[in-house]
Amino acid sequence: MNYFQEILNRAMRQCHETYSSLFDYIYPFTTENISGYINEFTLENRSLLTVGSSSDQVLNAILYGCENVTLLDINPYTKFYYYLKVACILTLNKEEYLEFLRYYNYPKVFKDNKNCFNIEIFNKIKSTLLILDYESYLFWCELFKNFSPLEIRKNLFSTDEDRTDVIVNSNPYLINEQAYKTLRKKLENVEPNFMTTNLLKDEVIGHFDNIWLSNIPQYLTTLEIKHLADNTINALKHNGLMLISYLYQTTINTPYNKDWEPIYNLPQILNLLKEYNPYLSSFLGVKGLKFKDEKIKDSIILCRKL
Ligand SMILES: C[S@@+](CC[C@H](N)C(=O)[O-])C[C@H]1O[C@@H](n2cnc3c(N)ncnc32)[C@H](O)[C@@H]1O
Repeated sequence: MNYFQEILNRAMRQCHETYSSLFDYIYPFTTENISGYINEFTLENRSLLTVGSSSDQVLNAILYGCENVTLLDINPYTKFYYYLKVACILTLNKEEYLEFLRYYNYPKVFKDNKNCFNIEIFNKIKSTLLILDYESYLFWCELFKNFSPLEIRKNLFSTDEDRTDVIVNSNPYLINEQAYKTLRKKLENVEPNFMTTNLLKDEVIGHFDNIWLSNIPQYLTTLEIKHLADNTINALKHNGLMLISYLYQTTINTPYNKDWEPIYNLPQILNLLKEYNPYLSSFLGVKGLKFKDEKIKDSIILCRKL
């Protein structure tokens, strides 16, 4: 059996079952305020390696002029979701895009979207998907043939999905119709690379100006965080910039609570990573967007390779 067939079979099994492990689920949208940190990075005509099964990290980077993008994720469905989103962006307007992909609390809070993965909308985008990537086309056609839209959405995707206004404000490409159309144009020039890789086990191959590791360290022990940093920094170019971790509701002055994950113990983490010159950048947090409260900040831990 070839690799694609194995992944498709796995997705079919997952659509039947109710529980899989955490990172078998695709994130429908980013859970980070990417708008808050994207300007820290020089992306135009530079390269980026990023995790993020929602593909939002890649889509925003492309909007910012990054043409050399690698999307690495432990989740094997990531490439198929990227092409599904791209087919949607090329075919649908922004409202239709959200109507097809949003589920929880859409269109209103406490109302889940019955039109999510609507088969008529899928039929509208399917010929574009075929042109973009044949495996992605097969993957989604097989799933839509064998399962209902909601079976696919509920079993293959994470429930971690914010309100529409939070998602829109977190993603520069969704901020208005103009940005969405600009992304559509830029997508014509970009063909990302995809790697299904476990950053804790596999060597990271490549040489990048920028690396984004999302909030993976939130799920790791202190030793694993050090291992992750050592493993990925090798793939960063001289003077390159790496986002080691996204931190929710935290700034450099937030006192550590011993019940929190080790990545939030900032004195310890900054000391652990000191050979990589770590520092924090803070901005309006996801909860700050949600509750319209400027005081709620998120941060990223950055390292520049000198
Ligand atoms: C930690 S999750 C959380 C979602 C994230 N905040 C976002 O906005 O996309 C980020 C991504 O890391 C991936 N991931 C988790 N552990 C990984 C690992 N060891 N190697 C590669 N990718 C991993 C997950 O599959 C997921 O797509």
